[in-house]
Amino acid sequence: MDDHVIVFDTTLRDGEQAPGFNMNLEEKVRMAAQLERLQVDVIEAGFPIASEGDFMAVREVARQTRTSIVAGLCRTRRNDIDRAWEALQHAQKPRIHTFIATSDIHLKYKLRKSKAEALKEAVRAVKYAKSLCDDVEFSAEDATRSDLEFLYEILAAVIDAGANVLNIPDTVGYALPWEFGELIEKLHENVPGIENAILSVHCHDDLGHSVSNSISAIAKGARQVECTINGIGERAGNAALEEIVMTMRTRPNAFNCDTKIKAEELFPTSQLLSKITGVAVQPNKSIVGDNAFAHEAGIHQDGVLKNALTYEIMTPESVGVHGNKMVLGKHSGRNALNDRLNQLGLHVGKNDLQKIYEEFTKLADAQKNVTNAEIVSIAKNNMTCQRANGAAKATEPELSEAGIS
Ligand code: KIV
Ligand code: ZN
Repeated sequence: MDDHVIVFDTTLRDGEQAPGFNMNLEEKVRMAAQLERLQVDVIEAGFPIASEGDFMAVREVARQTRTSIVAGLCRTRRNDIDRAWEALQHAQKPRIHTFIATSDIHLKYKLRKSKAEALKEAVRAVKYAKSLCDDVEFSAEDATRSDLEFLYEILAAVIDAGANVLNIPDTVGYALPWEFGELIEKLHENVPGIENAILSVHCHDDLGHSVSNSISAIAKGARQVECTINGIGERAGNAALEEIVMTMRTRPNAFNCDTKIKAEELFPTSQLLSKITGVAVQPNKSIVGDNAFAHEAGIHQDGVLKNALTYEIMTPESVGVHGNKMVLGKHSGRNALNDRLNQLGLHVGKNDLQKIYEEFTKLADAQKNVTNAEIVSIAKNNMTCQRANGAAKATEPELSEAGIS
């Protein structure tokens, strides 16, 4: 089995569909350029039939993208496919991504179609898309709540019609990790012709399992994963790209495959998205959150100062973050305080450190955390013999520039 897991980024389509994450053409183009720097394999740029703005953004991303495949989403209707192709045709590597729902619930209440009708439409759409574009992906929307036998049947039929990528969305985030892995195994065993296609997964986070479900599917042979930066997307979001990538990088022995993502671009990409959309990343977000490499507890700070491996399973630099952060607050210990004093150019003896520490903890108890200026002031008031080397005179902006805050 291929050891390359294709990363299909849908930040600009599924991510942008979420309330508050709208991006205009210029913002989508800027984001797409950063996704290329991150080395994603596929950029899903939008849903061209959805609006004139989306159409123009997909067309512009398609024109400007050099190395990544650019995908556009469309339903199975002919005019949807035509509109997608109109937007994509000038891409170096275009992909038409067509989908239809396959679950009984969606067929009965949303589409009001029988299984036979849906299958016929899917086949017709894939054949038509294939007549326009070599690269055609088919998604069985709500696959995880679909009748399994029907899923086998429709997937086999669209492979026959020319689809080279088959995407299995957990559209409503309903699957559990072991179930989703089993589903991928069963598809490999029971869909005729599956060896000629790439099996892809697309997981939503309604129950918080989107990354685990994606990882479980990769372990069972899925070779494309659909995900978004910061996990943005419909409702509770999509699987977070950075979490999937770093799971595989941090635990390489658990996988026989990897992505081609340039991990040092993960944090810059996350920051750019946050800046463009105006939506902050939650501080405790894995990999890219403000606290992902921050330590406040005394025991942890002591461990990290001795060897970062004690409490860090990846280096901040490996994901593009400049160093870890020691937050001085009421949980901090003497060792971290002394380290900060040294960074500030203040070298104190054991007795002075004890006095400074006592004053520091009083202040830390009264407020959330203690600034460098406050630490310097406490130190100066409690040092019997000052041996500052001048750095204590550094201004707050200079210190924070040096990563000391
Ligand atoms: O969640 C979903 O089912 C989708 C498909 C259109 C791929 O976004
Ligand atoms: Zn989705």
